[in-house]
Amino acid sequence: MIESFKLRNVEFNNRILVASGTFGYGDEVPDLVDISQLGGIMTKSLSMKPRDGNPNPRITETASGMLNSIGLANIGVHKFISDKLPTLKKHDTKVIANIAASSVEEYCSVLELLDAQEGVHGFEINVSCPNVKEGGLSFGTDVTLVTRITKELRQRTNKPLIIKLTPNVTHISEFARACEAEGADAVSVINTVIGMAVNIHKRTPKIATTTGGLSGPAVKPIALAKVYETVNAVKIPVIGIGGIVTWEDAVEFFIVGASMVQIGTANFINPSTGITIAHGVKEFCEKNGMDNVGSLVKTLQTNRTISIVDSWL
Ligand SMILES: Cc1cc2nc3c(=O)[nH]c(=O)nc-3n(C[C@H](O)[C@H](O)[C@H](O)COP(=O)(O)O)c2cc1C
Repeated sequence: MIESFKLRNVEFNNRILVASGTFGYGDEVPDLVDISQLGGIMTKSLSMKPRDGNPNPRITETASGMLNSIGLANIGVHKFISDKLPTLKKHDTKVIANIAASSVEEYCSVLELLDAQEGVHGFEINVSCPNVKEGGLSFGTDVTLVTRITKELRQRTNKPLIIKLTPNVTHISEFARACEAEGADAVSVINTVIGMAVNIHKRTPKIATTTGGLSGPAVKPIALAKVYETVNAVKIPVIGIGGIVTWEDAVEFFIVGASMVQIGTANFINPSTGITIAHGVKEFCEKNGMDNVGSLVKTLQTNRTISIVDSWL
């Protein structure tokens, strides 16, 4: 039974990863969780300088999900390299550094520092960050900027380069095509969906930034549709994320066309969810006579050939 997956020059133990911001730097989970049973860890987003993030409250529970506005709080790339990476690289799993920045130049400098580190196996680029130089709008909603970021970063690394796309655009496939054209090895689909919740007694937003990012089971149907749209637009692998809690959820993403999946919010309920899912997917494949998880990928049976989001119109 083959579970591993190769991306560029890196072989992952299996196709199940843990999503950025939901697994810290791998050192916050209890010792009981055997990290080596995961395909890889996407680190919390790293920026050049440490960031405190947004004011509290910055998390609230919603129906089948949660809203967060953490604001990319992190320890900064230098402290990550000195304090976290030595422990992280002891695990037999792949470490993918997720990078956040407020300018194209910062993305490049952070990547260059991390590229020199042996224990960093690849990069996931969080483009859902405010572009400080251009008035604070997210890089990820501007295809010209996503193109530029991918092009600049590709020139600076031979390790796997994954661009993490935001669902908060009309056609995510347009962004995925731009990443593919500039040499990205894969795209991650999706980051959180913009959402809001209100305290009716105080008539105030439930999180300090008014709107935040929705995640968890509530976003799974959105994520599946975005993965479906993306896999029909590009040839590079698509990494599915959004609301995965059970192995059945992960199987849905593989059938739709994801080559790998990431587990996010579910880690807050149980940090070994990814491991349980890895076992469940493997058993499902074996029971159905498949000797490779890859045999599941993009096997959706549909008589409709349209891949565009407006397909219901
Ligand atoms: C509390 C929290 C913090 C997050 N922080 C990051 C982050 O630092 N960088 C990033 O790229 N995505 C971040 N995400 C987004 C997740 O990695 C993931 O894309 C999203 O939550 C959807 O997956 P899920 O529904 O399985 O959680 C965060 C999500 C949550 C809930």
